[in-house]
Amino acid sequence: MEVLGFLRLEAGGTVVTLTLFVALLALLKWYSTSAFSRLEKLGIRHPKPSPFVGNLMFFCQGFWESQLELRERYGPLCGYYLGRRMYIVISEPAMIKQVLVENFTNFSNRMASGLEPKPVADSILFLRDKRWEEVRGALMSAFSPEKLNEMTPLISQACEHLLSHLKLYAASRDTFDIQRCYCCYTTNVVASVAFGTQVDSQNTPEDPFVQHCRQFFALRIPRPLLALILSFPSIMVPLARILPNKNRDELNGFFNKLIRNVIALRDQQAAEERRRDFLQMVLDARHSTSSVGVEDFDMVKEALSSSECPVNPPQRGQPASMPEPLTTDEIVGQAFLFLIAGQEIITNTLSFITYLLATHPDCQERLLEEVDLFVEKHPAPGYCSLQEGLPYLDMVIAETLRMYPPAFRFTREAAQDCEVLGQYIPAGAVLEVAVGALHHDPEHWPHPETFDPERFTAEARLQRGPFTYLPFGAGPRSCLGVRLGLMVVKLTLLQVLHKFRFEASSETQVPLQLESKSALSPKNGVYIKIVSR
Ligand code: HEM
Repeated sequence: MEVLGFLRLEAGGTVVTLTLFVALLALLKWYSTSAFSRLEKLGIRHPKPSPFVGNLMFFCQGFWESQLELRERYGPLCGYYLGRRMYIVISEPAMIKQVLVENFTNFSNRMASGLEPKPVADSILFLRDKRWEEVRGALMSAFSPEKLNEMTPLISQACEHLLSHLKLYAASRDTFDIQRCYCCYTTNVVASVAFGTQVDSQNTPEDPFVQHCRQFFALRIPRPLLALILSFPSIMVPLARILPNKNRDELNGFFNKLIRNVIALRDQQAAEERRRDFLQMVLDARHSTSSVGVEDFDMVKEALSSSECPVNPPQRGQPASMPEPLTTDEIVGQAFLFLIAGQEIITNTLSFITYLLATHPDCQERLLEEVDLFVEKHPAPGYCSLQEGLPYLDMVIAETLRMYPPAFRFTREAAQDCEVLGQYIPAGAVLEVAVGALHHDPEHWPHPETFDPERFTAEARLQRGPFTYLPFGAGPRSCLGVRLGLMVVKLTLLQVLHKFRFEASSETQVPLQLESKSALSPKNGVYIKIVSR
C-alpha cells in the first residue's frame, strides 16, 4: 500500500512538473512573439521578426545598409523590432518636419536604452523634458560665436601636432591610414577643450587619458547578452544596471576624478587665470542667467542657411537663473558629451572629406586655391572669418555630410497618442529619422552616389525642398555642437590643406567600405598618400 501511495505521489509530481513545463513553454512561445503585432495594427510595413530578438538579424550587415534596404523595400514610412521594442522609421520630409518641429512638444525626448553609463546618462543627449530644457537653455551660451572664438587657439594648438605627424608621412611618401591620425588628433582636441588637459595621443598612447578614451569606445555589450537584454528588457535592463561591471565603473571613476580635480583647481583660480575651454564655458553656465527659450534652441537652421557670422540669440523676457544649477555629475556629463557626440563624428567627417578629395582631384584643386587665398588674408582666422570666407570648403563639407552623414539615425519618443499626417502614433512609440535613406533618395538628390559639391551652391540650396538634408538633425533638439563641430572641421582642413594635398594610391579602397554599428565610419580606415605643397 505504502509503495503504491509513493508511486502515485511520484506520478502526481511528474504530471505537475510536466504541466508546469508545458505551461512555461507555451508562455515563452507567446512572449517570444506577443510584441510583434503592433506595427501591423498601425498599418506600418516591416520585415518579418524572429521570436524574441525581432529583426536583430536584419541588421547584422550594419545599420546603414539595412536602413537603405528598409526604405527601398517598405517605403519612407516603415518599421522594425529590436527585441520587443518597436521602431517607426521615417524618411519622408513632410513627416520629419511634423515630428521634429511642428509637434515638438510631443516629441521632445530622444529614446534612451536605460543602459547608458552614468556620465553619458547625465549628458544633455539623454536628459528629458523640463530638465533637458533648462540645461539646453543654459548650455546655449557655451556655443556662442564669442565662446567659440575663445576656443580657436586651443584647436589650432592641437592641429600643430597633427601637422607635424603628417609631415613625416609626406616625407616618407608612403600610403598610410589618415583616419588613425585624425582619431589621435580629435582625442587631443577633446582632452584640451572638454577636459582641460593636454595630451599627445600619437606620441604617448600610454597616457591614461588616451587609454581610457580608447577603452570607452571599445565598450561593447557582448552579442549573447545583447540578445538577452533585447528579449527580456524589463528584467535584464535593471539587472545590467545594478550588476557590478569593473570596466565601466573604472572608466566612470577615471573621468569623474579628472573633471572634479579640474573643477576644484578652477574654483581656486582668479577668473582671468582660467583656461578658456569648453569645460570653463560649461562651468560658467552652471548658474546661468539665460532666458533663451525653446523657440531659440535651433542652431542648425542658422548654421546651415547663412554664411554670415551669427549674432547671439535675443534674450526674451527677464533673464532667469536655472531653478537647479548644474550638479557636478551633470557637468561631468556635459564634458563627456564632447567625447560621445563630437570626437568620433569629427574624426569620421574629416576622414570622409579626405577620401573624397583624394579621389576627386579637380575639387581638391579648386579648394586649394580658395584655401591659399584665405590664409593670405587671415593668417590666424577666428570663428567669424571661418564662417564667412570659405564658400567652396562649406560646399565640400556639406556634400560629404550628405553622402556620409556620421549621425545617420536619431530618435524621438512620442509622449502621448497622436496623429502625424494621418498616421496614428501611440504614446511611447519610438520614431527613428532615417537620415541615410533621406540623403540617398534620388527624388531629392539625383544620382545620390555621385560626389557633387555643386548641390550646395547658394542657389541650389534655395531651390531644394525643406527637411531633405539633416546631418545635424533639425528643430529645438537638433545638434547643439553644430557650430563647434563645423569650426573644428574647417580649421583643421584649412591648416592641413595649406601645407599638403591628398593623393589616392593603389591601396586606397574605392568605393569606401563603411561600418555602422554606431556612427557611420570608414570600415577599414582611409589609406592615402600626402604630398607637401
Ligand atoms: C560634424 C560634427 C557633428 C555632427 C554631424 C553632429 C550631428 C548630430 C546629430 C544628427 C544630432 C541629433 C540631432 C537630433 O536629434 O535632431 C546631434 C545631437 C547633438 N550633438 Fe552633434 N554633431 C556633431 C558635432 C557635435 C559636437 C562637436 C558637439 C559638442 C560638443 C555636439 C553636441 C551635440 C549635442 C549636445 C546633441 C544633442 C542635443 C540635445 O539633445 O539637445 N555635436 N548631433
